[in-house]
Amino acid sequence: MDDFVRVSVTVNGRKFTRAVSPRLSAADFVRHELGLTGTHVGCEHGVCGACTIVVDGSVTRGCLIFAVQLDGSEVETIEGASESGRVAELQAAFVERNALQCGFCTPGMILTAAEFVGRHHESNRAEIREALSGNICRCTGYEAIVDAVENVLKAKR
Ligand code: FES
Ligand code: FES
Repeated sequence: MDDFVRVSVTVNGRKFTRAVSPRLSAADFVRHELGLTGTHVGCEHGVCGACTIVVDGSVTRGCLIFAVQLDGSEVETIEGASESGRVAELQAAFVERNALQCGFCTPGMILTAAEFVGRHHESNRAEIREALSGNICRCTGYEAIVDAVENVLKAKR
């Protein structure tokens, strides 16, 4: 165990302590140590956004930070955001607008969109697209995703 580092972190409101490899990414930590597999791993170098988690309130790419950097943090994954109802409107809008196909990008897309929707009451499509530009979807062509986010913003007004 000498090479392992102790990490204490609150994830989705529950406290966890684990001994982890110093090189374990935060995304692999939530997936493999905590079984929260809604955090996906695609590119593993910060490009696709599939690994998005929320760390101390900031939308973060879980593949770009190490699990040890989470020590003392509050983390929210898509499971927590879903169970709390925080992203319920977005989830419903994605379903209604058919804004997903394989779903690989969807957890990261929803967490990123939730951060944007939380900061805006209205926005144009270009701004929505820009806000989501770090989350890559290989299936939908993005139009339906932007529609869904736009619909949630409209409903807020
Ligand atoms: Fe982290 Fe692609 S897996 S950005
Ligand atoms: Fe397949 Fe976005 S729905 S990658």
